[in-house]
Amino acid sequence: MKAGIEAISFYVPKYYLDLKTLAAERGIDHAKYYNGLGQEKMAIVPPDEDVVTMGASAALRAMEKVNPASIDTVLFATESGIDQSKSAAVYVHGLLDLPSHCKCVELKQACCSGTAGLLMALAMVRQQPAKKVLLVASDIARYGFGTAGEPTQGGGAVAMVLSTEPHLMAIDPQNGSYSDDVMDFWRPNYMEEALVDGKYSIKVYVKALTECWNQYVRETGHDFDYFDWFCYHLPFTRMGEKAHMHLAKYADVHGYTKAQLMEQIAASLRYNRQTGNLYTASLYVGLTSLLESPAELAGSRLGLFSYGSGCVGMFFGGQVMENYQAHLKTSDHQHMLQDRIELDYPTYRKMYGYRLPQDGQQHDTPVYHTGPFRLAGINEHKRIYTAVQAEIEADTDAKNQCIRSEQHRPENTKHMVSVA
Ligand code: COA
Repeated sequence: MKAGIEAISFYVPKYYLDLKTLAAERGIDHAKYYNGLGQEKMAIVPPDEDVVTMGASAALRAMEKVNPASIDTVLFATESGIDQSKSAAVYVHGLLDLPSHCKCVELKQACCSGTAGLLMALAMVRQQPAKKVLLVASDIARYGFGTAGEPTQGGGAVAMVLSTEPHLMAIDPQNGSYSDDVMDFWRPNYMEEALVDGKYSIKVYVKALTECWNQYVRETGHDFDYFDWFCYHLPFTRMGEKAHMHLAKYADVHGYTKAQLMEQIAASLRYNRQTGNLYTASLYVGLTSLLESPAELAGSRLGLFSYGSGCVGMFFGGQVMENYQAHLKTSDHQHMLQDRIELDYPTYRKMYGYRLPQDGQQHDTPVYHTGPFRLAGINEHKRIYTAVQAEIEADTDAKNQCIRSEQHRPENTKHMVSVA
């Protein structure tokens, strides 16, 4: 029985910083960011969005053609969790009005918990083929201002429906995995920004890739030539290139030029160059970028490597289905990326510096352009989420009410504002 990805969609906020702007501010040649790291833009999350609103926005689009009653489980992968106890999956379940019989759980292991969720989801649907799993991976990659990690920030979410009707890609049951207790990247609970030993992390990433590959080959007997295309976890897109060159050398492949090897990953890097690191979502935005490229992929075999610092790695494969293009959201994704608003440096600093008040009083968040959902505020330490359309309708109702009764509009009625 085939199982895999039935639908996939990603979401990034409406705002981005061009890394030329950051380079100018830091006195660095922008070619270091554009070419050395392979990053051009990074998505910036406004104060009225978080992993829940981004995850729900991605999920809303992924669920467009899926019967909500078929969803048995909502898994939410993140390393930017908003609560130590309540899972972000429960909020998404509520915002999407999913059936109450769903199980909702949050998963964590740095950037690879999305893949852990995917493998768990596939095991579930193989056991109960009529049921489907909604998997959301959503993160805000945040490093200190002025640190080497700063140009590799980003934020966004991906949502996938996993089922035994894999319209996009069937995923093989075997995988190679590897864990090691190392400190290459981490974020203590009391810190807002991640700590990273970047150069060490690259070494550990590559070691994890080698170990996963070894185990994958032992499990399956497949070799490098079995795959047509590869997708890697992308903390920055040059990492994908480094990883692929390493794997080709390690696997001792013959008959490929460097250009041919780069061709095997180039299509998976396009979107990430524009979004920055999305942690748990990065690998799957890369996969979406590949699937939505002009290349004809039906029947192609894809190799995917997931890496989560700390560290855990997983390598697995799958095959693209016939007629997969009909199930993609290519135009939506491309418009979403093109229609974003560029920030100047002071606005970037302001947005990244914003923190939700922690005093337990009622606070409304400033209103920015968002997707279908926004974090409207906080009260008694509870986050308040709204559906933007419902908020606009309530606003219009309030306005009409005011006109009818010739009263002034309420002070707390919200407006959309633009920042750039
Ligand atoms: N033009 C073109 N390329 C340039 C350049 C220029 N003017 N100046 C430097 N470069 C290249 C360097 O040669 C290097 O390329 P190489 O890796 O092929 O040698 C690349 O740009 C990066 O330069 P480097 O000096 O190594 O960068 P850095 O010290 O600023 O750190 C990272 C880069 C990636 C280590 C850092 O951004 C980081 O730690 N990011 C976070 C990564 C992360 O989150 N990892 C954990 C999860 S996987």
